[in-house]
Amino acid sequence: MEPALVRIRPLSEKEIRSRFKNIIRIDHPNHISILNLTHNGDERPKTFAFDAVLGEASSQEDVYECFGRPVVEKVLEGYNGTIFAYGQTGSGKTYTMEGVQENKDEWGIVPNAIHHIFLAIDQATDRDVSISFSVRVSYVEVYNDNIHDLLSEDHTASLSIREDPLHGVFVKRLTGFVVASSSDLYNVTTLGNRNRATGSTKMNEKSSRSHAVLMVTIQQNVSGKLMTRVGSLHLVDLAGSERQSKTGTSGVRLKEASKINQSLSTLGKVIAALVDAKSTHVPYRESKLTLLLKNSLGGNSVTTMVANVAPSDYNYDETLCTLRYADRAKHIKNHVQVRVYSCIACNFYSHKCSPVVRDMTRHLDLYDHILSQWIPEDKLLLIEKNMTWDEWTDEWTISHSSLCGNNVQRQQEPSRSLKQDQRGHSDIYRSYSLESSQRKSATIEEKLKLPLIDKKPSTSTSLEE
Ligand SMILES: Nc1ncnc2c1ncn2[C@@H]1O[C@H](COP(=O)(O)OP(=O)(O)OP(=O)(O)O)[C@@H](O)[C@H]1O
Ligand SMILES: [Mg+2]
Repeated sequence: MEPALVRIRPLSEKEIRSRFKNIIRIDHPNHISILNLTHNGDERPKTFAFDAVLGEASSQEDVYECFGRPVVEKVLEGYNGTIFAYGQTGSGKTYTMEGVQENKDEWGIVPNAIHHIFLAIDQATDRDVSISFSVRVSYVEVYNDNIHDLLSEDHTASLSIREDPLHGVFVKRLTGFVVASSSDLYNVTTLGNRNRATGSTKMNEKSSRSHAVLMVTIQQNVSGKLMTRVGSLHLVDLAGSERQSKTGTSGVRLKEASKINQSLSTLGKVIAALVDAKSTHVPYRESKLTLLLKNSLGGNSVTTMVANVAPSDYNYDETLCTLRYADRAKHIKNHVQVRVYSCIACNFYSHKCSPVVRDMTRHLDLYDHILSQWIPEDKLLLIEKNMTWDEWTDEWTISHSSLCGNNVQRQQEPSRSLKQDQRGHSDIYRSYSLESSQRKSATIEEKLKLPLIDKKPSTSTSLEE
């Protein structure tokens, strides 16, 4: 994994009243020690090294600068990026990811990232009018090992998760909003948060009972250039591991807790398999959570894990467990590549697909993306069969006209197989666009009740994971 970082929350008032002791020390900007007081404090503290450790006094801004900004910068450059918050219940994961939305000083990583993305877009488009961006958002939760679309009217319906060689892992029929401003994106995420499952336990009055994954895809086009950069940001607020003896849960809450612990245990197994050089199998499929995060764990993504810890002696076992978990996760190696989709074939090369051209595209980091993400497998075969670029790109241009923008010149009736492909794609997800005229007059909820607004072409960017 890219950086593994630790954030320590302050002792809560309740913990101070109960006279719990703080057993965490930051010995160095990136070393953390934990003391076991059950042996009269005689045991030597256990020390771990991470890329950064932020203590109790750290502000939400410090957290964003350290954990959030570097990942978002990468996404704006066309990489995939993931930040996920891990830790026991009540350790501050949701505070780190969401924070308090009404107070800018307490904004978590999500609102700060939204602000950052649109500021960067405004600056880039002010500098260069030929650049345009499209930002798409989807939001899902994994609740009791079921995937729910937090932006759907029917957010309790269970969606299926699929994996195929063409699209990778994707959630079928997932809602995607195309948003034009930070306030749109902010409103969409607020709606999703409202739909997310939370409940009260002894350890946390507002405990997340599901894992939430916010997906923001940023597509950058430059007019006159037949290329588009696509970066996806995944912001993951995991539900916390918990012990029934401490949370005092029963009934529904207990069932939730057992599913939460089960999926976190699978996440632990996936991490262990990824860092074990001898391992031949990574059990992504053992839980929906790990399958959903497959690309973020060991795949093509700059991934940062934020380990949240609560510092009181009462939480010694859980904190030690979190630090060990993060210590293992930091050894995961991801294979990160910038994602530039291209119509290179459309105009640059109009001769036969020679091995030289294939090498060039591979060199440009494009070949694999084109083959694995955008071209139906039968086209791959045609390339291998030495189909001409013209023949290939005529079809490809039509099927990806949304990416090529005004540069699409060859307009001809799509072949039967392409029409079929497009039907297949539109079945995979639903897409909405927030239009500025309606933005003023309708709330997001009202818009969600409206039928489809400005349905986007089905071959746009939400298929990548
Ligand atoms: N750094 C912090 N500074 C101040 N308060 C914090 C901090 N971190 C967490 N808190 C407070 O601690 C409580 C628990 O935090 P939070 O809900 O974020 O925990 P969590 O890890 O998401 O728990 P769960 O797994 O149960 O969802 C909240 O009241 C939150 O406001
Ligand atoms: Mg939470």
